[in-house]
Amino acid sequence: MIAARISTAIDNALLYEDAQQAVRARDEFLSIASHELKTPLTPLRLQIQKLRYLIRRGEPAAVSPEQILAAVEKSDRQIARVVALVEDLLDISRITAGRLTLHVEPVDVAALIRDVVERFAPSLADAGCTPDLSLPPDVTIQADRIRLDQVVVNLITNAIKYAPGAPLRIRLRRESDGGARLEVQDQGPGIAAADQERIFTRFERAVADVNKVGGLGLGLYISRQIAHAHGGDLVVQSTPGTGATFVVVLPAAPPVPQRDERAPLTPPDGQETAA
Ligand SMILES: Nc1ncnc2c1ncn2[C@@H]1O[C@H](COP(=O)(O)OP(=O)(O)OP(=O)(O)O)[C@@H](O)[C@H]1O
Ligand SMILES: [Mg+2]
Repeated sequence: MIAARISTAIDNALLYEDAQQAVRARDEFLSIASHELKTPLTPLRLQIQKLRYLIRRGEPAAVSPEQILAAVEKSDRQIARVVALVEDLLDISRITAGRLTLHVEPVDVAALIRDVVERFAPSLADAGCTPDLSLPPDVTIQADRIRLDQVVVNLITNAIKYAPGAPLRIRLRRESDGGARLEVQDQGPGIAAADQERIFTRFERAVADVNKVGGLGLGLYISRQIAHAHGGDLVVQSTPGTGATFVVVLPAAPPVPQRDERAPLTPPDGQETAA
């Protein structure tokens, strides 16, 4: 009887501690998320105020179309940043609810990677990351094009943020089972062994100065979940001081979803699967 009561008391204490821990994690996340969302909104507001000032200044000739275009382009970049952050938050709730649905189609992985590298060419150049591509043309797999694009974008933006000023090797290979293996190798500071698993957990970051490099700590978590949803994986190999290599392996096609899997499935055309 006493033993049962002690055990209940311990359980309650542990539950209380878990709850406290969860509340702390939530508060910390809210403060990081608000900070991250505010970061692009502040310059956006300044741009809009500047535009208003320029337009209100009277004679139409006072504002050149170039000035307006520059302000609009800057604003557009800030808006894109906010949209990307909100998309990441939506992905987290989709993953948590088991609703990360794949829209599977044949994907030419080399073409997809080349497309992302072209889109990021200005940021890569600004960061001094020279891409060194090895992309054989015959790697076509069944995958979700948009989700795969998201994985490549995450790895490239991480290299830009954490490994600037050095070449970025991107190598694609066709596996013997018809799957794809992608390696994104930077020459940045690398990742300490103790952090190598932690960085794939949501909201986890391993940066010394969080104010210097922005981020929610979601990119790798989401990317690994996407790889898992395809029946593949995303891992890192790194020796601190010599850079990091992120490896994505994807099978030729995602596994066929099982009806009795825990995650709810939404396969309208039999081509979809869920994480
Ligand atoms: N190429 C890299 N070199 C060194 N450290 C890295 C690299 N990529 C990621 N990291 C570390 O892993 C952490 C988690 O990365 P992740 O992409 O999940 O989040 P983030 O970049 O901080 O934020 P987000 O991607 O959500 O904007 C980073 O904060 C950083 O500490
Ligand atoms: Mg990231």
